[in-house]
Amino acid sequence: MLVDKITVNLKINGLATELRVPPQKTLLEALREEAGLTGTKHGCELGECGACTVLINGSPQLSCLVLAAACDGAEVLTIEGLANGPELHPLQSAFAELGAAQCGYCTPGVLLAAAALLVRNPSPTRDEIRQALSGNLCRCTGYLQIWNAVERAAEQLRTR
Ligand code: FES
Ligand code: FES
Repeated sequence: MLVDKITVNLKINGLATELRVPPQKTLLEALREEAGLTGTKHGCELGECGACTVLINGSPQLSCLVLAAACDGAEVLTIEGLANGPELHPLQSAFAELGAAQCGYCTPGVLLAAAALLVRNPSPTRDEIRQALSGNLCRCTGYLQIWNAVERAAEQLRTR
């Protein structure tokens, strides 16, 4: 028998959420089309650009390559959950101040990959930042502003 839709229970941005999705839907599609969270961007859908990056149980993952059904019981953080209410995450402030978000298409994925880096390594070197963000392509900035912004946010987080 062909299964039409399945139920997936997960926590998205801290909220317990039940999604009814076709079994073949990716997490990217489920977030955008079922949960209404369009901050996660469609890019290549081939695992090559990083635009669809979200955190699953704290780890950066390409949501275009993950089935929503595989996320049952998981905690997912999307860009909509990065700020603390009205207070921007230091990464978001630094990106705005230093011109690290230009067209903005890569920005949600970059911010989430950087946020995960700063949790596991509060004092990353420039090379460690480059390595952590190497799967996130940006066609606008030339990357320098992004690396500078991550360094500024790291400094701010360390002095809090
Ligand atoms: S859209 Fe997922 S890696 Fe490009
Ligand atoms: S800011 Fe445009 S792709 Fe990165």
